[in-house]
Amino acid sequence: MEKLLQQLEEYKKAISAENPTNADEIESFRIKYLGTKGIVKSVMGFMKDVAVEKKKEAGQLLNDFKLLVEAKYEALKNTATTHQANASNIDISLPGNPINVGSRHPLSLIKNQIITIFQRLGFAVAEGPEIEDDWHNFGAMNLPEDHPARDMQDTFYIHQNPAWLLRTHTSSVQARVMEKQQPPIRVICPGRVYRNETISARAHCFFHQVEGLYIDENVSFADLKQTLYYFVQEMFGKDVKVRFRPSYFPFTEPSAEMDISCLICEGNGCNVCKHTGWVEILGSGMVHPKVLENFGIDSNKYTGFAFGMGVERICQLKYRVNDLRLYSQNDIRFLKQFTGVV
Ligand code: PHE
Repeated sequence: MEKLLQQLEEYKKAISAENPTNADEIESFRIKYLGTKGIVKSVMGFMKDVAVEKKKEAGQLLNDFKLLVEAKYEALKNTATTHQANASNIDISLPGNPINVGSRHPLSLIKNQIITIFQRLGFAVAEGPEIEDDWHNFGAMNLPEDHPARDMQDTFYIHQNPAWLLRTHTSSVQARVMEKQQPPIRVICPGRVYRNETISARAHCFFHQVEGLYIDENVSFADLKQTLYYFVQEMFGKDVKVRFRPSYFPFTEPSAEMDISCLICEGNGCNVCKHTGWVEILGSGMVHPKVLENFGIDSNKYTGFAFGMGVERICQLKYRVNDLRLYSQNDIRFLKQFTGVV
């Protein structure tokens, strides 16, 4: 016991004389005293030689010694950090630099909202290539080579191989789904599409769409109307009104365009709705039997509806973005307005 006391005193003296400042020396201190083969471990070995009645007292002493060494080690580490900070002129009491949190692009926000709404109705998401062949983009969709409706969807071709083009709508993805899968089919096809347009506030050479396709037995125009009405209410709120206008698409028959009551002027008339109180948001219709037959789907047994909307247009109405070019200019003043929007 005497020997132990004496030994501890010596170590304590040695420890108070140790004043390492750099990280390597402090680590050596830790290994020397607190390591697995260190001094603290080795003095613990004295316990076995201590008489039974003294064990409690010796235990206490050894424990105190261990705490002392640990406290010294912590103190050395702290002073080292302060030294380091002082040496490099860092004021560690200053608040940190804020981390700039990025935000999702408004078109991604809207696209995701559209997807979520249709997923609730049981639609699956299908995607396909942006570089397409003529068949998937036009031919299969009942737009043969000399069809005048191709004029409205002029696009970009590749010199070396005019059979390839940049898709003008994501109907091409619907074609790829019908190619692989027999009904029931219930998909939405989000993605970027291209058209040969002069860039202005109202037109761009690329934009984004979400198209939808539902084919099964007994699918009717009533299903189409109710599905799209549900979508509009989920997207814009319960007060919004809808109307369908007859239209023409080669791949649907009958076809209809859907308008919603203008959210900007609430139907009173403004620039966005061209003073009509209504804005067009999508095209739709019952899938043309020829399109079904193109994919070997029996048009006597199955019917279906399809629709297609522009994400930019939905975004314009929801967030009042009045110039299409804002979406692709990467102006941080525009983009940061959507921070925190989900
Ligand atoms: N594909 C059409 C377009 O891009 C939209 C549409 C899809 C219309 C499905 C009707 C049915 O203009």
